[in-house]
Amino acid sequence: MSEPRQILVTSALPYANGSIHLGHMLEYIQTDMWVRFQKMRGNQCIYVCADDAHGSAIMLRAEKEGITPEQLIANVQAEHSGDFADFLVDFDNFHSTHCEENRELSAWVYTRLKNAGHIATRSVTQYFDPEKGMFLADRFIKGTCPKCAADDQYGDNCEKCGATYAPTELKNPKSAISGATPELRDSQHFFFKLPDFQSMLEQWTRSGTLQDAVANKLSEWLDAGLQEWDISRDAPYFGFEIPGEPGKFFYVWLDAPIGYMASFKNLCARRPELDFDAFWGADSTAELYHFIGKDIVNFHALFWPAMLEGAGLRKPTAVNVHGYLTVNGAKMSKSRGTFIKARTYLDHLAPEYLRYYYAAKLGRGVDDLDLNLEDFVQKVNSDLVGKVVNIASRCAGFIHKGNDGMLVAGDAAPALTEAFANATASITEAYEHRDFARAMREIMALADRANAWIAEQAPWALAKQEGKQAEVQAICAQGINLFRQLVIFLKPVLPLLAADAEAFLNVPPLRWNDLGSRLENHQLNVFKPLMSRIEPTKVEAMVAASQEDLAAANAEAATGNGELKKDPLAAQIEFDTFDAVDLRVALIVKAEAVEGADKLLRLTLDIGDEQRNVFSGIKSAYPDPSQLEGRLTMMVANLKPRKMRFGVSEGMVMAAGPGGTEIYLLSPDSGAKPGQRIK
Ligand code: MSP
Ligand code: ZN
Repeated sequence: MSEPRQILVTSALPYANGSIHLGHMLEYIQTDMWVRFQKMRGNQCIYVCADDAHGSAIMLRAEKEGITPEQLIANVQAEHSGDFADFLVDFDNFHSTHCEENRELSAWVYTRLKNAGHIATRSVTQYFDPEKGMFLADRFIKGTCPKCAADDQYGDNCEKCGATYAPTELKNPKSAISGATPELRDSQHFFFKLPDFQSMLEQWTRSGTLQDAVANKLSEWLDAGLQEWDISRDAPYFGFEIPGEPGKFFYVWLDAPIGYMASFKNLCARRPELDFDAFWGADSTAELYHFIGKDIVNFHALFWPAMLEGAGLRKPTAVNVHGYLTVNGAKMSKSRGTFIKARTYLDHLAPEYLRYYYAAKLGRGVDDLDLNLEDFVQKVNSDLVGKVVNIASRCAGFIHKGNDGMLVAGDAAPALTEAFANATASITEAYEHRDFARAMREIMALADRANAWIAEQAPWALAKQEGKQAEVQAICAQGINLFRQLVIFLKPVLPLLAADAEAFLNVPPLRWNDLGSRLENHQLNVFKPLMSRIEPTKVEAMVAASQEDLAAANAEAATGNGELKKDPLAAQIEFDTFDAVDLRVALIVKAEAVEGADKLLRLTLDIGDEQRNVFSGIKSAYPDPSQLEGRLTMMVANLKPRKMRFGVSEGMVMAAGPGGTEIYLLSPDSGAKPGQRIK
């Protein structure tokens, strides 16, 4: 046997200002499956991650919520950890970039870069918000597009005509934070001299560290020549102050990847067998892999290896890039209910269904991956329930009934045993190269053969005949052994199913080299159903709940807690825009709870010459909906109808308050007539 490898693995650090959704989960599930595979192989494989806690977005969001950034990131970290644990993503450590280890390591890396002459300083002219007293990143400046004159465009590009420009070219610029007119001011910035690493990067990106498509993309950037990278931000900023430079902070993307090291260092303190320098020193023989999405390649395959090299540390063995998740063939959409949060999924479905589906579709490439919800139900039911679990449930009963749960010795199907053994090398290689889709295809092909063989042998028919008990036992023992092999193959993807199967098989945790043995003269435990089919109604309920999250968010925005109200630029509209909203007095004819929706009421509204069906996220304030019947309210009557699972929503009613039980439906004075226009 070869020496166990030492492998350190990371997934990108999720931002600490939002919830985890199924797009993120693609990455964490992909990484987790690979790590579990390595651990089963007997390698020393360590998987670390952390929340990415710094930056102005987090600072501003905390401010808006009236809490400190520290409180915000603590809340989010608890939420993220729960989501990952429930999806069976088994980090060795999930830390935060806002920690002492990271503060020290960031300062240390920076000082090494500076001492080696890789840091430059120069003055930069930028927009400054005089009311907030802060410099404005491009996305916090809005104004009129210099090309097409569209209003309300961001500081770096126009959504109307697609033009890109410098924020200083924007006409009539305004701070998106305070609404103030920004001023140009100079300040000293710190730059990492990326061009110092041009030739190292040309070589490194072509040395098998990246998928071809990624390496090709990077050559375009490398050919165009690298620019110095601005790594500083002025106070106020939520991050680490640059050593010796009061009022200057590291840009979040400087300390974020160092957060990988910090999380590992934090783990080393708990696990004495781990030696930090053995993993990160320039002459480390350990392997280092980063799993990331295609949107953050430049940070991981240019800036990061250059920083590591410049600081005298080892570079990654490989950066593994995946594509983006689409749902039902399109970008995840809140209004279609396909922007699905991790928690919303878990409220309705078991984690292993999604783990298997992702595995079945994840190849080695950077192509986008589609979660087609119909295909999801069909594939999981047919492969996992119909093929894999089916083998055990077909055989277990006969062994318990006919032989007290004792597996007999002997190989009843040598050809099949051999086919399984022959497939092992190829499945192992597919896992090693992250070609989970190929691994799943080959595993299911074996499951098909096992099922076909059992069907052919038909132990259920033999069991009814005299004197065939030995044959029945031989067939079923073989079936259970084939099932055990499939469970080993699938364990990186389906750790819970594997644990339940281990309990039934009465064996210690299965490892990869258990593929080379079989169970003979072995006592089984009672068989309990290992996995149930996905009910399509559960998927529908999940989509409906995702739409409901949106309806609730809209209700919040409408009641003044959302972003719109807080954004002074959005708060000012032209009269014509206001006039375009058709506000009507509406009579609530009927108000009822919606089955399967926790937050929604279905309202039937009379607006004079027609009736409208409107779903509204106000149930928490009106637990007895009938109290609303006969009451007047106000509605937006010309909102585009929106299709939801429960039906089409044809407008929106108006309410005030912070949400929850504090929602106050607006009403006109008595005497107003349904259908009257509100001006
Ligand atoms: N904080 C940075 C990463 C810093 S790493 C030193 C970040 N965070 S993120 O929360 O926006 O994204 C985390 C990971 O999830 C990234 O690798 C990103 O590509 C991935 N995904 C986010 N949305 C995704 C999809 N819709 N589909 C697939 N992966 C997606 O970037
Ligand atoms: Zn434009």
